[in-house]
This record gives sequence, C-alpha cells and structure tokens, in this order.
Amino acid sequence: MGLGNTGRPFGNTGFGGRFGNRSGLSSPATGAPGVTGATGAPGVTGVTGVPGVTGVTGVTGGVTGIPGRTGITGGVTAGGTPIGGAGLKPGGDREVDAPGDKFDSLKRQIHLQLVDKLDFSKLGEMDQGTLKTEVKALIETLIDEQNPIINRQKRSEIVKEIMDEVFGFGPLELLLKDDKIGDIMINGPKTIFIEKGGKIQKTDVVFKDNQHLLQIIDRIVARVGRRVDETSPMVDARLPNGSRFNAIIPPLALDGPAVTIRVFGSKPLGKEDLLKFKAFTPEMILMLEGAMKARLNVVISGGTGSGKTTLLNTLSSFIPHDERVITIEDAAELQLQQPHVVRLETRPANIEGKGAVTATDLVKNALRMRPDRIIIGECRGAETLDMIQAMNTGHEGSMTTVHANTPRDAIARLETMISMAGLELPIRALRQQFASAIDLIIQANRLQGGPRKVTSITEVVNMEGDTIIMQEIFGFKQTHVDETGRAHGQFWCHGIRPTFMDRLEAKGFHVPPDFFRQRMLLED
Ligand SMILES: Nc1ncnc2c1ncn2[C@@H]1O[C@H](COP(=O)(O)OP(=O)(O)OP(=O)(O)O)[C@@H](O)[C@H]1O
Ligand SMILES: [Mg+2]
Repeated sequence: MGLGNTGRPFGNTGFGGRFGNRSGLSSPATGAPGVTGATGAPGVTGVTGVPGVTGVTGVTGGVTGIPGRTGITGGVTAGGTPIGGAGLKPGGDREVDAPGDKFDSLKRQIHLQLVDKLDFSKLGEMDQGTLKTEVKALIETLIDEQNPIINRQKRSEIVKEIMDEVFGFGPLELLLKDDKIGDIMINGPKTIFIEKGGKIQKTDVVFKDNQHLLQIIDRIVARVGRRVDETSPMVDARLPNGSRFNAIIPPLALDGPAVTIRVFGSKPLGKEDLLKFKAFTPEMILMLEGAMKARLNVVISGGTGSGKTTLLNTLSSFIPHDERVITIEDAAELQLQQPHVVRLETRPANIEGKGAVTATDLVKNALRMRPDRIIIGECRGAETLDMIQAMNTGHEGSMTTVHANTPRDAIARLETMISMAGLELPIRALRQQFASAIDLIIQANRLQGGPRKVTSITEVVNMEGDTIIMQEIFGFKQTHVDETGRAHGQFWCHGIRPTFMDRLEAKGFHVPPDFFRQRMLLED
C-alpha cells in the first residue's frame, strides 16, 4: 500500500488517511481491516459495512485505493486534538455552538470527527462521485453511532449540511454561517479568532493541520482564478457571499498560513442598522442623504475596520437609480443596490511580474465609460490624483475611502499618496485641487470596546493661503469608558450651517430652519 503524503503542497493522495481511532473507537492505528482496494468499492464497504463502528476505525488505507496514493498520513495518531464543542470558549457568545439545539451540536460533533478522520489533502484528487458516496456513508455511520434513535428526516438533514461543509470551506463553514461574526482571523490551523459584536475572541474551531488549511485556501482562491504557493504567497480573493479574503502562507507567515476574512453578510448593514447601533444620528444621515443627492464629493476616512466600506455602501444607497456608477476596488466588496453599476477590480501582476492592472489604469478607463459617478473602494496610491481630477471635471458625486484618523489627516494622507507616487505638483496647486474637489469628509472610528461611529462630518470649505479650511458640522465627543471597557459619548451639532446647503436646496433638498442649531443630538 502506498503510504503517505508525497509532500506536494496540495491534494496529493486519496483520502482515508486516518479514518480512525476517534470517537472512542479502539481499533489499532494500523487498522488491518482497512480498505486498500484498488477501485474503492471495498473501501466503501469497509466504511459502512463492518458491523458497529469498527469498519470506520479500521479504514486506514486509501478508501478509494488509488494506487500509490492510499496514503496513511502519518499513521494514526492516537488522541489528536480534542473535539466536540466547536463553539466559542466558555464565557464568549455561544452562537457558534448554540446551546439547546442538540441537532446542531450533534452535527458539529460529527463534522469535527469527520474533519479529524478525513485526509483533506487527498479529497481533491478523488473521483467526486465516489468520494461523496463514501464521505456520506461515513457521516451516516457516525450519526448512528452518536445518536441511533435520530429520526430519518433529521438524519438526512444533518448529512446534507455536513456534506456542504465538507465540500465547501471545511471548518470555516461553521463560522461563515454565523451572521454575527464580522471578522475571522486564522493564525495557523489551530488558532482562530473572530470578531463578534466589536469584541475579538478566540474560538476552538480548528483545522487539522497546515495542509488542511492550505487546501481550503486553495479552494477559495481558485474560484476567483488566483493561486497561492511559495512563489506567490500572498493572495486576495472574495468568498461567494462577497466576503473579503486575504491569505499569506509560509515562508512569509511563520506559524502556518494566516487568513483574514472580512465577513459581509448576505445583506450588508444599512441605514436602519447603523441608526440602531447609534453609529450616527437621524440628523446626520439626513444631511448625508441630501449630500449624496446633490452630488457632493465625499471622502470617508477611518482606521482599519472602522466601518468605512459599510458607510460607503450605505451612502451609495442614496444615489438615484438613473445614474451610472462605476466602482473600482482591489477586491470587490461593495454591494451597491442600483441597477446601473459597473464593477471593476484591479489585478495583481502574474508570476513573471506582468499583467498588473492598477487602480490608476481603471480610473483612466472608467473616465471613458461615461460614468456619472466613480466610487473607488480605497485610495492607496497614484489613483488619488486621477480621482481628484475626476471629481473636479464633471464627475461630482464621487466617493472614496482613505485610512486616516482625522479629517485633516485624511487630506494629509491623500497629499502623501500623490507625492509618493512621484507626481510632482506644487503643494499649493495640489491643495487647491483638493479644496475644490472634496466637499465633505466623513470620519469613521472604532471606539474602545467595539462600537463604530461616525465621529465627524466635516465640510471642506476653501483655501486660505496654503491652508485648506474645514469646518466640522457634526461631531462625536467621547465622555467616558464604562466598567466593561466600552466607550460612551455624545453626538453634537455644532451650530454651523454648511456652505454647501445652497447646493442641496437648489436640488430641492430642504431642512427645517433650526436644523443646524447647536445642540447635543444623542447620547450613547
Ligand atoms: N456602525 C457599525 N456597528 C457595528 N458594526 C459595524 C458598523 N460599521 C461596520 N460594522 C462592521 O464592522 C466590520 C468592518 O466594517 P468595514 O469593512 O466597513 O470597515 P473598513 O473600515 O472598510 O475596514 P478596512 O479598513 O479593513 O477596509 C464589518 O464586519 C461591518 O459589518
Ligand atoms: Mg474597507
């Protein structure tokens, strides 16, 4: 029987590896009854046919018996990682492992046992039909072993769900299904953190080993035509539900593949959700709605994970449906609801360093596509100048985001990006362009303890000398941090009527006369 792993990075052998010695089963590691069959048929019976559970434990050879690929991966280690309870650590939220739903936890239990028993690196090369039949049989055996009296319908539901997980994204499916999770951070196969309700916590969901994790990464990036290996060890991709995905693998990542996923639920957070979370007040969003309809140019500034993209999405929902919008992103994550949207995505260079398409290229091209508005997911470099110029030349109503901590910092960042790109413009001329292009800067912030808020809405007024003059219309002032470590504060209207209100009114957007009266709007 061909043994083991040939050391190729992904999916070499058949599966089977260690079907065993889990779930309290006692067959010896080498599982003599194991199925080594050439075409898999005996394997199937090995899995399902042996009375009791020994059939399962016995299968240590390749179930499909692809010659030379039957791989016993590393023999059968006894024990292995503790399973059962892929939920969060005690004390954390338990949505992942909802208590009280015993079928859910049975499913999770079985899924984890399965993960432990299968050699995922081999699944890729097996005939899918055979593979599915066999995995299904194994799942059924495990269910019967765990819960012999389960009803038929429930049984087949569980089988179906586990099959989805096995042939989808493995243990990640457990996390992706929980719509309360915002970020998933995988630091090697055994250490997975999630962000939930603004708090970061460790889960005890694990991958079997580096190989297993790599295989899932490969499956994800292959779907969008990218690849990850030693020659291109960093990759961006998108999950089918629109979530943003980044992976970096050894040798660059020292402790195994590191994966970061920004989960965007099937329905992104919108105006009503954000109002409920007190991310801004009704007055603030009303003015922003007017600003969008009156085609003001908007820059959203904020730190990492502060809610910039979410705001961009929310604001874009105010764009009238008859306008043509072109979006440019590195990894498409905007979910615009308009009917007339063209989505463009940049492309990294190929292995020979060729074929890169940058955001600058895309902005230039977008200008030839008769856009009403251009939305750049995030300004990082030379495209900044093209965008500013577009904003100044008839594409009002354009938007972008930038990583910065205050509105003034945002302008400074944009300036730096242009000068770093080697575009030598006198600083005064550049600022002049900013001052006339950008109407509004919205500052997003992730406060201590998790809440995300719009902490400033600032109008860019004009230039005086070399200085860009700005005025804050709405602001959030943090007042204290409570005993749980969560920040609280007040939203204020500063009593300044923005100069752009004339433009809003000209477009038929009116607010009550005392709308901009100085006052505290909301306390949280
Ligand atoms: N006001 C809010 N309240 C609660 N959760 C929010 C809020 N705004 C955004 N989120 C969630 O926070 C996470 C980060 O949001 P988002 O992707 O918009 O941030 P970002 O600033 O664009 O991040 P990055 O810098 O990584 O691009 C997402 O999961 C999003 O659903
Ligand atoms: Mg973002």
